[in-house]
Amino acid sequence: MELKTIKDAEVKDKTVLVRVDFNVPLEKGEVKDDTRIVESLPTLQYLLKSGAKLIIMSHLGRPKGENNDELKMNLVAVRLSELLKVDVKKVDSCIGEEVDEAVAALEAGDVLMLENTRFHDEEKKNDTKFAKKLANYADLFVSDAFGTVHRAHASTEGVAHHLDSYAGFLIEKEVEALSPLLGEVEKPFVLILGGAKIDTKIGVIKAYLGKADSILLGGGLANTFAAAKGFNVGESLYEKDKVEVARELMLEAEKSGCEIVVPGGFIVADEIGDNVLTADMEITGVEGNMKMLDIGVKSLYKFLGILEKAKTIIWNGPVGLYEKTPFSRGTREIADALREVKGKTYLGGGDTLSALKMFGFDRDKYTHVSTGGGAMLELLEGKELPGLKVLTK
Ligand code: 3PG
Repeated sequence: MELKTIKDAEVKDKTVLVRVDFNVPLEKGEVKDDTRIVESLPTLQYLLKSGAKLIIMSHLGRPKGENNDELKMNLVAVRLSELLKVDVKKVDSCIGEEVDEAVAALEAGDVLMLENTRFHDEEKKNDTKFAKKLANYADLFVSDAFGTVHRAHASTEGVAHHLDSYAGFLIEKEVEALSPLLGEVEKPFVLILGGAKIDTKIGVIKAYLGKADSILLGGGLANTFAAAKGFNVGESLYEKDKVEVARELMLEAEKSGCEIVVPGGFIVADEIGDNVLTADMEITGVEGNMKMLDIGVKSLYKFLGILEKAKTIIWNGPVGLYEKTPFSRGTREIADALREVKGKTYLGGGDTLSALKMFGFDRDKYTHVSTGGGAMLELLEGKELPGLKVLTK
C-alpha cells in the first residue's frame, strides 16, 4: 500500500483539516491517557512548522449523534495546548456560524479544534453534505487517525473525496510497523487476545488460525471459550450468544494445527473492588456467583512459558480486569515479560495502552505499540480499511 504522505503536500499558508483519533479516556476532569495525542504531535508540529493553519477534528466516545457534555473535546484541547505549546482555540460545534468565523480568522501557525464529530448523526452515516461542509473549511485534508481508519465516516473517509488527502506520520508509522505481520513471520508465532468481547476478535482469530502456533485467551473472551468447553462460569462476564462461534473456532483450530489456549484456572471473586476476597480457582471449581476476573497463576506461567519461546507476538486486550489491583497480575506480568522476551512484540488496543500507562511501562520496550484497537485488528485481518484507502496513491 503506497500512501500519499504530508511530505508530498505543499502546506505553506494553507488551511489543513486534520483528522486525529483523540478518542482518549477522561477521568476526574483530565485526560487519563494522552498516548494518542502525544503520538499525533509529530504530524501537527510538522504542519505548523511548514506554515499551515490547522483545523483539528476527532470523535470522542460514542455519543449517538447528539450533544453530550461528558464527551466534549474541551479537556482534550487543553491537553493538546499543553503538549503543543500552542494556544488551541476550541469551538462548540464542527460546522455552523461559530466555526465559519473561527476558520476565517485563522492565520499561519494557529490551531483550531472542532467539537466531537459524533455529535452529528451525519458523521457515522458518512453523509456527503456533512463531509462537504467540513471539506469546505480547508485547502487539503490530512488524516493521522490510525485508530479510526477502519470506520467509513464523514470525517475519516467522506471528506477525502472533496479535498487532496494525505496521511500523517502516525498513520505512516503504524502501516509500516504492522504490514510485515501480514506476510511470512518468524515462528513460533503467538497471539494473545483479551478484552471483553469476542465480536471484534473473531475475524483476527480466523485470519491467524493457519498462521499462528498458539492463540492465548484472557478476559471476557476467555470466559466465553470456557463456557463453550462446557464449564460453569458462574456469574462471569461472557457472551452467551457467541458460545457456538467459540466452539466452531476451537474445532477449526484443531484442524489447522493452531493451539487455542483457554486458561485452566482463574482468579475469582464474588464482587469487584480493590479490596475484595479472591481465590485462584481451577475452572472446574467455578460455580454460583463467582466471577472470573483474571487468569489463574498456573495459566499465567503457562502463557509466560509460551511467550518466552515465541519469535513473534501480537497482543490485543488485557487478560483481566487490570484496573482493579486484585485482578491486574495477569496483564501486568505479561506486559512485563514482553519487555524482556527475545521475540518481536506488537501491542495494540486502547485498554492495552492504558494498562501500560497504569503500570508505568515504557512503550519503547516493545517492537511496536499501536494506537489502534479495532483498526489494528482489521488491518491484521487483511481487510481493506476505508480511511486508508482514500490516502493511497
Ligand atoms: C478506538 O478507540 O478504537 C477508535 O477511536 C474507534 O472508536 P469506535 O470503536 O467507537 O469507532
